[in-house]
Amino acid sequence: MRVNVLKGGKISELKCEVLVVGVFAKANFSSEQSVAEADELTDGAMRRFLAKNKKFGKPFEAVPFQISPKKHKNIEKVILVGLGDFEKLDNYKLRLLAVFAGKNKGKDVKSVALSLPKKVIIEDKIDLLVIGFLDGNFDSGHHKSHKEHHLDFEELVILSDKVSGGIQKKVERALVIADSIHKVREVVNQPSNIATPEYLVSFAKKIAQDNKLKIQVFSEKQVNELGMGIMASVAKGSELDLYFVVVRYLGAGSSGPTLALVGKGITFDSGGISIKPGEQMDWMKMDMAGAASCFGAMEAISKLKPKVNVVCACPLTENLPSGKASKPGDVVKGLSGKTVEIINTDAEGRLVLSDALTYVQKNFKPDYIVDCATLTGAVIAALGNLATGVMGKPQDFVDLVIKSGEETGERMWQLPLYDEYHELIKSYIADIANLSSGKGGGAETAAKFLEYFIDKKQKWAHLDIASTAWEESDKPYTAKGATGSSVTTLVQLAENLAK
Ligand code: BES
Ligand code: MN
Ligand code: ZN
Repeated sequence: MRVNVLKGGKISELKCEVLVVGVFAKANFSSEQSVAEADELTDGAMRRFLAKNKKFGKPFEAVPFQISPKKHKNIEKVILVGLGDFEKLDNYKLRLLAVFAGKNKGKDVKSVALSLPKKVIIEDKIDLLVIGFLDGNFDSGHHKSHKEHHLDFEELVILSDKVSGGIQKKVERALVIADSIHKVREVVNQPSNIATPEYLVSFAKKIAQDNKLKIQVFSEKQVNELGMGIMASVAKGSELDLYFVVVRYLGAGSSGPTLALVGKGITFDSGGISIKPGEQMDWMKMDMAGAASCFGAMEAISKLKPKVNVVCACPLTENLPSGKASKPGDVVKGLSGKTVEIINTDAEGRLVLSDALTYVQKNFKPDYIVDCATLTGAVIAALGNLATGVMGKPQDFVDLVIKSGEETGERMWQLPLYDEYHELIKSYIADIANLSSGKGGGAETAAKFLEYFIDKKQKWAHLDIASTAWEESDKPYTAKGATGSSVTTLVQLAENLAK
């Protein structure tokens, strides 16, 4: 896959099959050179269309124009795409529009050129465009005997006003990240009979080996011996062994800052003895998206080499009912010495994470921790699928995480961690309960539970990606299934911390 940035105004020389032309709503087309040039190819059909359809330009509106070989020897089709209002075009929307272009370029098309209005500064937005476009070029039909999409896409050309030396570096960075996102989406889409805890261990091992990262894999027996009894309690119902994987990237030497990434890796969440209703179950194969995103971010980070140390720690297991499974009311003890009353075995994410959080603090004394987890249905109730829920402390670190998200086109929305939430997770028999005794605030009380295992001075942010890790149905702008959410934010955060 090649990405080339070319100086605009040379449409006649393009070697691409398809030209995508973005237009803002209510724009003054006559002053936009990109439209004028593309219109030339359509023999004025585009201009006539725009004159008739004055309201054209809403996001994800698209019209194709066939181009005669007499007009251009390579370009067969021009697709006019609405970008919405300029004032409303943030990084999130631009990235999604790029996904839309990648998804709607047409089957079997191998090369596309992208031309955007001058107001979009390509130099600043190149990474969003490349990552988005490649995300659109994704096939989720892993197990279909006939592939529906053709992924042998070869070349994306982006037309730009200015082309500086720095731009190619940005393109290369984007290609690295886009590749990691694809891998994350692929494993998250895999069903739980394939993507078992062991499968994820292999995924992490491959990333570690290919990029010379240190990796430790603790077996279920070792997890118990180390005293991580809260983590181990979740695995009891499964026939498959639990693994706790720790991957390390050393980019800054022993005196440099360390970021810890902790990812929830439940390869299937049935709820356990507190079993889930049937209609919510099949997609619970995606409950390892947090771990997958952390591994994917590690891969991209190890290739991009920011001057920061990153340690990634992920518990990998299934949550299933059986005669050996944890039962509501059970009390377990973790590495911190703290005890938990398991009121509901379906609140298992916070259980596995609590010991992983304790482990990284004890062993690596990280300056910053970010955990990433499909933790609660409540975050979906709060935010829909439009933003990841963020909670943490202190505020300036949470702000940096949110800013890293904004820079890469991922929406992060902060929810509170009020002291009062702690009252709701008190236990009469143990130090803390894994379920709130109150009705609302499910995402917040879950985060409050995690905070109970975070040292007083520790900087920490929790990303609840239950809202963003999965697209429920096929949309014009994105495919059904895993999204790879938070990979770009984690990579950007590591880079921001290295500055
Ligand atoms: N994995 C789920 C959360 C989830 C829900 C992720 C929907 C993705 C989509 C989590 O382990 C869970 O079951 N949470 C419960 C918590 C409850 C028992 C307190 C929930 O949200 O219902
Ligand atoms: Mn659950
Ligand atoms: Zn879960």
